[in-house]
Amino acid sequence: MKDIDIEIFLNELYMKGQINDSKSTNKIDKYLNITPDTGQFLGFLAQFTSAEKILEVGTSNGYSAAWLALWTDEAAQITTIENDPKKISAARENFLSTGLVDKIKIIEGDAPMILSKITESFDLVFVDMDRKLYLDILEDVIRLTRTKGIIVFDNAVSHKDEMTDVFNYFNGNPQFHTYLAPIGKGEFVALKKW
Ligand SMILES: C[S@@+](CC[C@H](N)C(=O)[O-])C[C@H]1O[C@@H](n2cnc3c(N)ncnc32)[C@H](O)[C@@H]1O
Repeated sequence: MKDIDIEIFLNELYMKGQINDSKSTNKIDKYLNITPDTGQFLGFLAQFTSAEKILEVGTSNGYSAAWLALWTDEAAQITTIENDPKKISAARENFLSTGLVDKIKIIEGDAPMILSKITESFDLVFVDMDRKLYLDILEDVIRLTRTKGIIVFDNAVSHKDEMTDVFNYFNGNPQFHTYLAPIGKGEFVALKKW
């Protein structure tokens, strides 16, 4: 990693996202980044659990992946999936400028298709993409999370009505411990017990 001031880099990246989103009239052009306190929460979870293999679904311009990469050990690897070519090149540029490019692998394409083909398992999975597809990817997300691994869904408060099926799947399911963290847009956390 290059010698950068992490705090300044993350602040600048967040501001770039805010400016981009305020100028974009089409939702598809917006970066829709997580909030900085969500980044801290993800970084904390990743460090606390010594996560070395992290999977993100929904890269955008790389803000959340940068948090995960900057707050984990050298050995940690982040794999992140994105289907929008413009966002992929923005993320690549951001990762290159910091030297994070070796720590973060972007898989380009449609998340449901890609997830169905991955066979390795992950310590932490962060899901932040098109919520209409959450039920379609749920089985794969669970399959790809190791035992005692953690799954985090963003927007669990801001768009809770769109996530009812996800909550219903996990809540009361003995395979998982769940927790709704009132951070940022609301982070729904599921710990896979077995
Ligand atoms: C909310 S944004 C992710 C923000 C990012 N996690 C961050 O905080 O910096 C959701 C992203 O999911 C991507 N996306 C939506 N549907 C997708 C799909 N089917 N496959 C891959 N990426 C998808 C969008 O292009 C968008 O960049």
